[in-house]
Amino acid sequence: MADDPKKTKQPATDLPARGSSAPPPGVASSTHIATRRSGSGLPLVPPRPATGEGIKPSIADALRETADAVQEAVRELTGKTQLAVPVAVVQPTPAQIRAADALSRTLLSPRPPSGPQGSRGPSPPAPAPAPGEPAAGETKPVDMVTLKVDGREVSVPRGTNVLEACLKAGVEVSYFCYHPGLSSPAVCRQCLVEVVGQPKLVPSCYTPVADQMEVLASSPRALLARQQMLEFTLVNHPVDCPICDKAGECLLQKHYMDWDGKDSRTDFDKVHKPKVVDLGPYIVLDAERCILCTRCIRVCDEVAGQHQLEMAWRGDRQELVVAPGQRLDNPYSLNTVDVCPVGALTSKDFRFRMRVWELYTVDSICPGCATGCNIEVHHHQGEVWRLVPRENREVNGYWMCDEGRFTYKELRRARVAGARIGMGKGMPGQVASIDKAVSYAAERLGRICDDKGTVGLVFGAQAQNEALYALYKVAELLAEQGVPVRRYVLGRAPRPERQDNILRSADVNPNTAGAQLLAGPGAGGLAELRADLGAGVLKALWMVGEDVPIGAEELPALLPLLDRLQLLIVQAVHDTEIVRRAQVILPAAAWAEVDGTFTNAKGMVQRIRRAVDPPGTARPHLELVGLMSQKLGLARGQGWQGSPRQAFLHMTGAITATLPPPDMSGPIPAPLRGFARAEWGRDMPPVQLRFANARG
Ligand code: SF4
Ligand code: SF4
Ligand code: FES
Repeated sequence: MADDPKKTKQPATDLPARGSSAPPPGVASSTHIATRRSGSGLPLVPPRPATGEGIKPSIADALRETADAVQEAVRELTGKTQLAVPVAVVQPTPAQIRAADALSRTLLSPRPPSGPQGSRGPSPPAPAPAPGEPAAGETKPVDMVTLKVDGREVSVPRGTNVLEACLKAGVEVSYFCYHPGLSSPAVCRQCLVEVVGQPKLVPSCYTPVADQMEVLASSPRALLARQQMLEFTLVNHPVDCPICDKAGECLLQKHYMDWDGKDSRTDFDKVHKPKVVDLGPYIVLDAERCILCTRCIRVCDEVAGQHQLEMAWRGDRQELVVAPGQRLDNPYSLNTVDVCPVGALTSKDFRFRMRVWELYTVDSICPGCATGCNIEVHHHQGEVWRLVPRENREVNGYWMCDEGRFTYKELRRARVAGARIGMGKGMPGQVASIDKAVSYAAERLGRICDDKGTVGLVFGAQAQNEALYALYKVAELLAEQGVPVRRYVLGRAPRPERQDNILRSADVNPNTAGAQLLAGPGAGGLAELRADLGAGVLKALWMVGEDVPIGAEELPALLPLLDRLQLLIVQAVHDTEIVRRAQVILPAAAWAEVDGTFTNAKGMVQRIRRAVDPPGTARPHLELVGLMSQKLGLARGQGWQGSPRQAFLHMTGAITATLPPPDMSGPIPAPLRGFARAEWGRDMPPVQLRFANARG
């Protein structure tokens, strides 16, 4: 992509410009693999070496097959025999193939839960392989154990506990204190089962499986014991379900309905304990509802690594308290509310505001930082009420941080709900329809392009991959027309103080990796944008996303530079000082209002789903870029821009098949690998929580 001739910047993707015959180094168009020849008459793709020369034919073949499959798919989708995008295939060197092989072996081998993922504390260093053990990178066969649960044979990895084996066999066993992401102290005795050959009932959450073990989880003896434990747990419980925030997703309610259902035999005064205890900035305790399972204590100890809760007293006086001199105040404190099986711990932000069975849930990704924790968005009648973590052992285990939970509040704060045109440089501007604003923007941008003025494109790290891919296509097509284009990746300013080795990243943008990949290796950041604005190089700037990585104190220096532009177009979610400087504001939908993907810091491309409608006339970034492309006359063959799924398929196909790693000698970069593994996944209708069983 051609930029200002004075500044030689690298092409955005190293893709050959359309119409050009020369592919970038290391890349050859698969459509011409068999026929195209270089000037020397040699085939551009060297012939595969004979067996024994070090290159594994399977990998090169797989790449070629991928490219062919993408071409076929695009042909089917577009009904065209000629592709708009040249699909190319990387011809790796033997060193790259060895690196890619080692990398994929590491990635594909199963990882034991550790650190925040498994929340059993930090991962221990990898031990050196014992003699006869497989070396690093080789997959060790899993040692499986076969046992019988209620007569059903089940095989599980050695070390699994009996409770997990029962659940895997489809035999339900009640439990309270066990949580798959925490250690098992076996304090509630709600999971008792019989094991043939053992005189006493055993807590299944604490007992490891053994080969040929025979478990009787539903014998009359085991069922009676679990029923009695449930009654024991309820002896002093206030049973104030009608006013309890956990009602509808409470494990105690669920077990009572599933396993007991009898009237209370308690006819004495229950033990009274403190209520509405302020434990910390976000959490309130009702000690009477607490069933003393200690899950919350273990979350603080094992996930957050801070001992802030503990038990005091004994017997029926036992009570959850904060540790001496402590408050329940750590960056992961609200996970205690999630794991609390009853309504003892409640979130100040959520309590008494919404009943859980009124909520609908949609799977998505937290937009709070580059970690990309998997979450459920709980919403009702167009409003998001809370975000809770969703299990993904590769990313966040079972957890998320408190700050991430509150990102939903930004959906309601200072939103840009309608288009405006004609502002900037002190002009008040006017409200406009999207069509009018897009036409106005495209007409003015078109004039600048006709004059070959330099156009800047901002790839916002808060925007979705699909929209940024559409913007990349705009950059490519403008460059083909000889318009100098400069690309910048901007987002919110990093916050190094929030970085920990648990989940939180310093990068508080959800899609920096995706934006960097799609903007291409020549893209600049804020420093380059400042320099270009200061030098008066840019005539127009089109920002997809309104965030710039500077604080309020630096902003006054940047704003006058923006006034030097002939045209500033901002696709904005929130109203900011920069947005108010724009001549055209296009209202954009936020992360919870669109379908799309984000690429996290590990390069994993993860799906976000639309939960609620955007406010006013706001539209997804992808749609706005598509409308602008149409008006600019750049939308030929870009029908995929009409749907995020089509855009995703087009993007992943083109990226995995055409983008070579920038450094061909190293391993495949994580974002590229992420796009190669990415899946759009199933569409998910919102599920009402009343059908979604208990949480906790
Ligand atoms: S407050 Fe909840 S999680 Fe903590 S011990 Fe009590 S019941 Fe368990
Ligand atoms: S660690 Fe980052 S992605 Fe995870 S919940 Fe917190 S802000 Fe969200
Ligand atoms: S769940 Fe097994 S003892 Fe509590």
